[in-house]
Amino acid sequence: MGRLFNKIARKVIKWYEKNHMVLAQNMNEYDTIYTEVNDDIKLISKEVATEGAVLLKNDDNILPIHKDKIVSVFGRCQIDYFDCGYGSGGDVKKPYTINLIDGLINEDVIINTELLDIYKKWREKPNNVVDPGFWGNWPYSHKEMKLSEEVIRNAKDKSDIAIIVIGRAAGEDRENKLKKGSFYLTDIEENNLKLITSIFDNVVVIVNSGNIIDFSFVNKYNFKGLVLAYQGGMESGNALALNLTGKANFSGKLTDTIAKEYSLYPSSSNFGARDYNFYKEDIYVGYRYFNTFKKEDILYPFGYGLSYTNFTIDPVLTSTKGTNVSIELLVKNIGKFSGKEVVELYLKKPSDKLKTPSYELIGYEKTKLLDINESTSLKFDIDIKEFASFDDYGYTGSKNSFVLEKGLYEFYYGNSVSSLKHLYSLKLNEDIVVKETKELFKIDKSFERMTRDNDIIVYEKVDKSNTMLKDRILESIKEPIPLNSNDYKLEDVYNNKISLDEFISSLTIEELDILSRGEGMMNSSLGEPGNAGAFGGISESLRKKGITPVITADGPSGVRVIRNSSLLPIGTMIASTWNKDLVKKLYTEVAKEAYERNIDILLSPGMNIHRDPLCGRNFEYYSEDPFLSGTMAAMAVNGIETHVFSCPKHFFGNNQETNRFQNDSIISLRAIREIYLKNFYYMLKYSNPHSIMTSYNKVNGVWSHYNYDSCVEFLRNEMGYSNNIITDWWMRYANSPEFENCYGNAYRVRSGVNVLMPGSISAINKEHGTSLMDSMNKGGLTIYELQNNARYILKNVLESNSFKRYMKNKDK
Ligand code: BGC
Repeated sequence: MGRLFNKIARKVIKWYEKNHMVLAQNMNEYDTIYTEVNDDIKLISKEVATEGAVLLKNDDNILPIHKDKIVSVFGRCQIDYFDCGYGSGGDVKKPYTINLIDGLINEDVIINTELLDIYKKWREKPNNVVDPGFWGNWPYSHKEMKLSEEVIRNAKDKSDIAIIVIGRAAGEDRENKLKKGSFYLTDIEENNLKLITSIFDNVVVIVNSGNIIDFSFVNKYNFKGLVLAYQGGMESGNALALNLTGKANFSGKLTDTIAKEYSLYPSSSNFGARDYNFYKEDIYVGYRYFNTFKKEDILYPFGYGLSYTNFTIDPVLTSTKGTNVSIELLVKNIGKFSGKEVVELYLKKPSDKLKTPSYELIGYEKTKLLDINESTSLKFDIDIKEFASFDDYGYTGSKNSFVLEKGLYEFYYGNSVSSLKHLYSLKLNEDIVVKETKELFKIDKSFERMTRDNDIIVYEKVDKSNTMLKDRILESIKEPIPLNSNDYKLEDVYNNKISLDEFISSLTIEELDILSRGEGMMNSSLGEPGNAGAFGGISESLRKKGITPVITADGPSGVRVIRNSSLLPIGTMIASTWNKDLVKKLYTEVAKEAYERNIDILLSPGMNIHRDPLCGRNFEYYSEDPFLSGTMAAMAVNGIETHVFSCPKHFFGNNQETNRFQNDSIISLRAIREIYLKNFYYMLKYSNPHSIMTSYNKVNGVWSHYNYDSCVEFLRNEMGYSNNIITDWWMRYANSPEFENCYGNAYRVRSGVNVLMPGSISAINKEHGTSLMDSMNKGGLTIYELQNNARYILKNVLESNSFKRYMKNKDK
């Protein structure tokens, strides 16, 4: 029945894709073009997948597996291993995937082959073959083989250790569900787990999932080892086998809190609604909530992960200059294995007028590989101004400002948020106003948000606000550059013959209009087959002026084109390494692949906050913490930008897939400033991407592609970001509430979003009033705004590889 349904649904989808471009993201209909993937990227992917896996439990040192032990591997995902999540952030034409069983065999682990044969035969039966599904309907899990007591007892007689693999995946347009087979274990999985753990003494459970699932089985069944193996890309099995055999040592740490059950997450009662969700938990996301109010609900804390060895961490030096603190810590390997440790620094701020969470991550470093007895010192330079709280109600007398309240700032260090030692206290005698901001992000629905009264959760009202948006926009509009019909070429700007403004003055309004959109579809004929779209020189007239097309491709897990490309470990796993240099190295290799495929912009990294474990795209993103997310994203950007342009996404407040084009995230100014913009703040502090992609959702009633406050006020005016801002793929057409003659694309350009991607061919001419010229004729958008918009796009073109190639070929 399920299969018949899928068959019919596939036909319907195909028809729909042909007739609507919204679903044209599905690249599966094309045949892969094969090329070799180079060894450097294979090696670095394996290294990241090795460093990103998290060892959660290792009683009696059941791991590493001794080389003489025989291992029975249970669970079909030993073969049908989930190497990635789904959608644009996962759908890479990978060259291969090493599953767990092959990984173990590659590392000479002695496998119970009789059991393996049982699995192999079972999964080949027609009813058990994996159904890959289709866009938005991919499998969360695969049908599992029900084990009899006899099979398990037989396996027990022939082996010493049982490994059980539990596999899950979710993705774009595919939210995790609170159902068996998605967030929860299926009856068969439970039954198998129960039987295996009652028959075997030595059991290790591997969770092969892109996101946190229900881990309550940990307290239900008796087993010794537990690994959160995430989805490790093409090198999944090889990497995991290295850790399991002790040829490598686990060093990954959780980037999210694992709670005892779903309902305990602070977002759980306000997540997943179709129209809007109040972010009532406010700044108390993840460990900020659990470690302030509910330590007893934590199963595994943020920042946690075991190793085969032990480390001591000792302060050697702390000094202060104003609000700047320099810290040095000595890490020593005192155990019996070589290994790497992550040192995490947290800040406890005063919680007086502005209530604050108990701890905030303010720094982290990973050691090099330390031999037994070896030590190393890690240095941190921290300015606590970076971590000031945002006062959205004027509690300190400074409304809409980042403020360091007077009082004690206490520094803690450790290797998880639940195992901290006090390091140092810094006393501020006066409040410091770190930065004043305009009142932005109008709130049009009032709600209650979480705050604290000592250790008790209380709620306070978030009022509606007025942000004078119309006046601010009008004030920013200047005189246009007079238009002329000079015959300039973009290379005249490149060769310093004319200024960029002079070149822009020679573009017609129609050309400026076309520049603000992409070519129309994914898989643009102007670039590598399977690209995500093109902008820039997308019309004859623009190309004649020397403007080259700029080609984009997804994404976070590798270059998503029709040519096969490396499949990386997922974003969460990458961040779980807590290894900044390694992350930069990985993305540098990916950037080389993108460069070889003539891609100008890699639509990566994905960096939204893990607000709730059910979000389908959590696998692409890094963490529940904005500092970790933002700094990891910066490393990704720095790596990508060595060869091509990056495009961090989705800006901002994009935390669920349900009704993703319409959904409204209703967030207080404080949570916007401290959580949902703060990740982008750190990313921009430590890197400079050539583009940023807005998100599909609304924040406080405004779609991100129309959000003047986030794009112009925050990115341009506060952060000084001077590169390109593009939409997520296609946008919702709407009227500006402030300016009646600004509709659709005119509203977008006025809001500071430079390019509509991937575009709309018909809109280049006119499409039901979306033309920019229509708006201009009615006194809406101005020539100044259109010319200003073109500046960002042409700057991008000038710096792009496609333009460099054009200039090089021209000289030949
Ligand atoms: C996704 C983006 C992606 C784009 C192009 C959108 O649906 O949200 O993350 O880059 O498609 O594939």
